Amino acid sequence: LLGVKEKRAAISGESSSSIGSSTTSHHSKNQKSRELIKNALLANDFLRHLDLEQICEMVECMYNVDVAKNCLIIREGDDGSLVYVMEDGTVEVSKDGRYLCTLAPGKVFGELAILYNCTRTASVRAMTACRLWAINRQTFQAIMMKTGMAKHSEYVSFLQSIPIFQDLAEEKMHRLADLLVEETFKYGEYIARQGSSGSTFFIISKGQVRVTTNVSQSQLTKVKAHEKTVKTLAVGDFFGEQALFDDDIRTANYVVSSHEGCTCLTIDRDSYNELIRRRDDGRTTGSPIGRRSVTLSPEFTSLRLGD
Ligand code: CMP
Repeated sequence: LLGVKEKRAAISGESSSSIGSSTTSHHSKNQKSRELIKNALLANDFLRHLDLEQICEMVECMYNVDVAKNCLIIREGDDGSLVYVMEDGTVEVSKDGRYLCTLAPGKVFGELAILYNCTRTASVRAMTACRLWAINRQTFQAIMMKTGMAKHSEYVSFLQSIPIFQDLAEEKMHRLADLLVEETFKYGEYIARQGSSGSTFFIISKGQVRVTTNVSQSQLTKVKAHEKTVKTLAVGDFFGEQALFDDDIRTANYVVSSHEGCTCLTIDRDSYNELIRRRDDGRTTGSPIGRRSVTLSPEFTSLRLGD
């Protein structure tokens, strides 16, 4: 038999009123359940792009809901407020009365209405007694926002620690932090190759990058290497800055030299132009930070982003 709370949560009464304060905090569970929920979230097409941090917080916030055989867990067309992960049992998904599929343990369901703010796209019925884990919309969205805000603050602090960005007005610093995209690279990977074109600017936030230039055929016999190391860049160093302003032909190779890999915060030219350059001065060319005023570092230090 379902308890009142579970009934409200698991049957059709998924209204916001069913969300008590207890559902917004962490709920104890064993390691096996934690792993199952985490893997289910990571395997879901719509959730797998979330940060691991977000996934882990969702795992902690999910609470247990047991439903009986034949229970209608989700009714098509309802306003949904819960996302479920199935630990035990079998559920059947149907739409317009037509069978769609059967879901087994380790599957997420009910994510679409919460992610896309739409009504339930299908009905889900328990074919056996089911042990489920659930998270409510508010908690789900709060986790997404909280982690997003924490990341944002982390990026702003990081940008503030880099000399070239220190003079940037606070508002622009925040806008820039919103633009940053984190990219990770493996040891030995070429982030950029000399002679290739690129439109991305990189700031190293973890690891090291070796800068090399290609050795010409005539030099090759003497040095017995295809590339010459010019310098090594570390956390806070940046490269590819010309890409923000012009079609950049990379002047060097950038190879990950730290065994643990490397993480870069990147901005591409289109995002930069869209959000920093154009919005500020209303101009697309001839601005003080226009393409002609910019050359490779260290001249980049004279750049005044958006000023
Ligand atoms: P949601 O729309 O919130 O509620 C019904 C859920 O059924 C939906 O999220 C998905 O999790 C699931 N669902 C909908 N369509 C399909 C499908 N074609 N195959 C598997 N699951 C589905």
